[in-house]
Amino acid sequence: MSSISKEFKNLLVFLGILSISLTAYIFFRYPLKFNSDFMLFIVLTIIAESLVIVTSTRGGVTLGFGVIIPVAIIFGPKGAIICAAFGNLLSIYKVDNQYKHLFNIDVHKTIGNSANYIISSAVSSLFYVMINGEIGVTNIYNSMILMLLTSLVFVVTNMTITGFFIIKLTDYDPKDVFKENFSGLIPNVLGVSAVSIIIVIAYINFGVEAVLLLFFPYLLIRYSFQLVFDMRQAYINTIKALSSALEEKDPYTQGHSERVEKYSAILAKATGRKIDMQQLQYAAIFHDIGKIGIMDTILNKPGKLTIEEFDAIKEHPSKGVRILDSVSFLKKANEIIGSHHEHYDGTGYPNGLKGDEIPFESRIITVADIFDAVTTDRPYRGAMTDQEALEIITQESGRKLDPYLVERFLTLYNEGRFAE
Ligand SMILES: [Fe+2]
Repeated sequence: MSSISKEFKNLLVFLGILSISLTAYIFFRYPLKFNSDFMLFIVLTIIAESLVIVTSTRGGVTLGFGVIIPVAIIFGPKGAIICAAFGNLLSIYKVDNQYKHLFNIDVHKTIGNSANYIISSAVSSLFYVMINGEIGVTNIYNSMILMLLTSLVFVVTNMTITGFFIIKLTDYDPKDVFKENFSGLIPNVLGVSAVSIIIVIAYINFGVEAVLLLFFPYLLIRYSFQLVFDMRQAYINTIKALSSALEEKDPYTQGHSERVEKYSAILAKATGRKIDMQQLQYAAIFHDIGKIGIMDTILNKPGKLTIEEFDAIKEHPSKGVRILDSVSFLKKANEIIGSHHEHYDGTGYPNGLKGDEIPFESRIITVADIFDAVTTDRPYRGAMTDQEALEIITQESGRKLDPYLVERFLTLYNEGRFAE
């Protein structure tokens, strides 16, 4: 709790009060037919919420609201918020091989997620009632458009609140956050609506048993998704193991990839250009992976390298490309890696590319790479000060480095952005 900002606390308090007020209003205003069917829906929500699809970027995605919308329609607003609350509080999910549950998740996360879910459920179910949606529908076909609109309200509310969290917790530009967050709006709404409509049709026509039957293919789909993400993670872990092997071989590079990753990400964001941040991140982490194929005696040589030895070192970008070539989802990252020693003026290697011929992301990594390399100890010299490094970066503007990126880098440095 102590590490979060005051502004973030205020947002949590505001959302907490809003969700409690909405809950109180709904409890007072709407009845609920509490029966065994409803209990089953609570259990299904908890299961759906527990099945977080862990993606490598933004934490996780859950499919719980595919159950909450049908509950809002079959049992009304009170049912929806009860399901949302239970689903959120009692779910148990696995992240990084560790089970997460109510008792080991940060309190502020639990408050934030629960409030988000309760508010989204309350707002969307109240909306459904307001547009004259019938609770416990008898004719599903008349209600389809209303259900679609209700899902839209749910997803928009949920994404807006999530967007505010991201803005308060990170320094991303609010415009980008909303653009990125809402880019998946239509598939999300259609997905949720389709699942919701099918569940409602099954329930009305065939009873609760049909809902259970439907739930299994839903689990299977989710499982397949998870397998794809797990497979990617397995690849990444294997390559990370290779990276650690490289760090053992060449201790001077220890921590280098992580710092290059950090500087590159900050620099990339500041350019405002459309960049695949994930691929840039992979490229930064693995940019020197090709050095694994270069002899230790050359990598760790304290003195000046001979021409032959330097030629051997020069092969590391191409060796890296060969190592990662078979990993299809690293295609873009690999292209970036292959050009991280090209120079803006065309004097670099392996292909002597010039200016815009060099991928923009590679040019970003080159700046970050040089800055970190000169500010850390190397076998052939000690670390230089930041000031000396900045002078080198300035001298290399238009030579090794893209002048535009050098200018951005110096500005960011002076703003203290790399020290954070
Ligand atoms: Fe390199």
